[in-house]
This record gives sequence, C-alpha cells and structure tokens, in this order.
Amino acid sequence: FHVDWDLMTAEKGGYDHFMLKEIYEQPKAYRDTMRGRVSEDGKSVTLSELSMTPEQIRAFRRVHIVACGTAMHAGMVGKTIIEQLARLPVETDVASEYRYRSPIITPDTLVIVVSQSGETADTLAALREAKRCGARVLAITNVVGSSVAREADDTIVTLAGPEIAVASTKAYTSQLIAFYLFGLYLAQTLGTRDEAFVANMLAAMQALPEQVERILAQAETIKEIADAIAHNRSLFFIGRGVDYAVALEGSLKLKEISYIHSEAYAAGELKHGTLALIEEGVPVIALLTQEELFEKTISNIKETKARGANVLGIYNEGQEAEVAKSVDSQFAIPRTLPLLTPALSVVPLQLLSYYASLALGHDVDKPRNLAKSVTVE
Ligand code: AGP
Repeated sequence: FHVDWDLMTAEKGGYDHFMLKEIYEQPKAYRDTMRGRVSEDGKSVTLSELSMTPEQIRAFRRVHIVACGTAMHAGMVGKTIIEQLARLPVETDVASEYRYRSPIITPDTLVIVVSQSGETADTLAALREAKRCGARVLAITNVVGSSVAREADDTIVTLAGPEIAVASTKAYTSQLIAFYLFGLYLAQTLGTRDEAFVANMLAAMQALPEQVERILAQAETIKEIADAIAHNRSLFFIGRGVDYAVALEGSLKLKEISYIHSEAYAAGELKHGTLALIEEGVPVIALLTQEELFEKTISNIKETKARGANVLGIYNEGQEAEVAKSVDSQFAIPRTLPLLTPALSVVPLQLLSYYASLALGHDVDKPRNLAKSVTVE
C-alpha cells in the first residue's frame, strides 16, 4: 500500500471542525478500506498484504485483541465478529492492563493490536510483549510506517485518511470494516462459513457507505436531540451484545468533547446497581439494533422509564411502532445484518457528542486534558 497524505486533505474543507468533516468522510473511508480487498465477483475477501499462510491461520487457537480507548471499543466489536465468523475464542484487553496480568500468550495465539496512530505507548508495549512470548501479531492501523505497523508481523491499513480531531470517528468505523474483512478472511480460510454467507455479508458491507449517507442527511434531527440533552449533568447509554460495545464508544465520545458525565452499561446490568442513579429526567440512550435481544432491552428500558428516565431509542428502521411505546424520542438506522449495525449505529452517537459539545461552547477538535496520540504509558 502507498498512501499520500498532504496538507490540503488535512484542511477543514468547508466544515466548521475537523471532527464534523471526519464524521462526513466515513462513507469514503468505508469504501477506501474495502477497495481492492473484495474479489471482483464479490464472493471472497482478498487480503494480499497479509503474509500469514492458511496453515498458520489454521494453527491459531486463540485471539487476543489489545488497544486503548476508541480503538479498544472497535476491538470489542472485533471480538464478536471473529468469534461469530471464525469460531475462535477471543479475549480483549486494554493495552495498559495487558502486560501486567501475565496473559497466556503462546505461539498459537494471534494478537491483534488496534491503533489509529500506531504510536500509542501502551499498545506498542503490548505488541512487544506479545512478540516476546512468540505470538503472531497483526496490527490494524491508520498510519503506514507507524511504529506499530513496523513492528507487527502483519498489518491491515485502514484507509480513513488523516484523522486530526482528537475524538476518533472515521478511524473507529474503518477499524470495524477491517475487522469485518479479517473475520470473513478467517472464516473463508477455516471453512467456518460458506461462500454464500461470505458473499451475502460482503454485499451488505458494500451497502454501508450509502446507508451512512442516509444517517448523515438527518444530522439536524440529532442536533435537536443534542441541544435538548446538553444541559444535563449526567446520562446513560445502554445496549446488549454489539450494542453494548457501541454504547461504550458513544459514552466515551460524549465525555471526551462535551465533558458531560455519562456511563455505558450492558442493559441487563443496570438493575445490579446503576438503576439507583436513574431519576426523573435523566437521559438514557438505548441501542436496540439486535433483534434477538430486542424484547430484553425493551424490558430494561421500561425499568428506567419507571424511574422517570427520558429515553432515546436507536433502532432498526421498520420497528417504529414497537419502539414508540417505550421511548420518548427515537432515531432509526437503515437495516443491515445484525453484526454490521455498529458501523451505522455509532454515527448518530458521534453527531450527538459533536452537537452537544458545540451547544456547550467547547473546543470540539481539541478537548481539554487530551492529546491525539498518547505516547506515554
Ligand atoms: C478517541 O476518541 C480517543 N481520542 C482515544 O480513546 C484514542 O482512541 C486512543 O488514545 C487510542 O489511540 P490510537 O488509536 O491512536 O492508539
């Protein structure tokens, strides 16, 4: 891969902030990250940059995903992707914890490090520890020639282009695309999914950029919701399965740039303590994209409504009537496969944090106390 980044592409291009520009660049980032990695007939994934052989792939017994912050949240979705598609057990660790828990890293472990910058000190140290223990390391990074890319055995480059805003948006969603591609690549190599499954998922992935565009066209709706919640002191994000991983990312994004306290909870966990914090008017953002878990999450929403919560439901198009009964406001995302919903549902949450930060008059692109690349441990 050869990627040219120049000053022109790093400019705001008519947007008020880099973050907004980068949110709107996501359809392009999805297309660029997929380009050349899907066979012409649309039936298989080609990752010609990987040097790992089919024999080496068949020898993997476990996968560790290690990263920090938003990249970790992408890794949490990555865990579900790899477990579902390739039926390999996956553990996730934040990089600052990984080395210190004496993880069981063996030569049949594949360690995947995820880093937009490729320079995060903890992630790099985790990579080195994994290599020292004889594991094979795959890096998912946005920067060709970064330390992580140089030291890993294999690299999948996310072609999101330069990400300037401290709050990561297009890098996160491009990391998701990289995980979908790699998960399918494992599945086709291991034979855990047949050709029809892979072709169907690839077709659904090709539809994602246009679906993101449809969400972006409704930014004004999200802005109104953001204006309404921006003056709350605290709020909650809930979801189950991959919706929980997206809830964590939505909560981090909001904290990072709007400084509003928020927490993300697996929806079923609320009643084990956190429900005590729900009182009249507290906003709860509930993700309901996983049809198998829909009724369970609705029950959890009702638990919060009974305590006076003001609930925003984010759900799949077509379920308006069922959702309307249990929430105060709602936002539908276009229909896709259950595993692919994070690539859509995170977009309204990115916009929500952007507009909340704007409403509060904060510096969106350069939040207090934070740096784009964290090169200290
Ligand atoms: C995301 O909005 C944050 N700025 C932060 O969590 C970031 O994702 C983290 O520091 C990891 O950075 P990296 O991807 O460059 O390793």
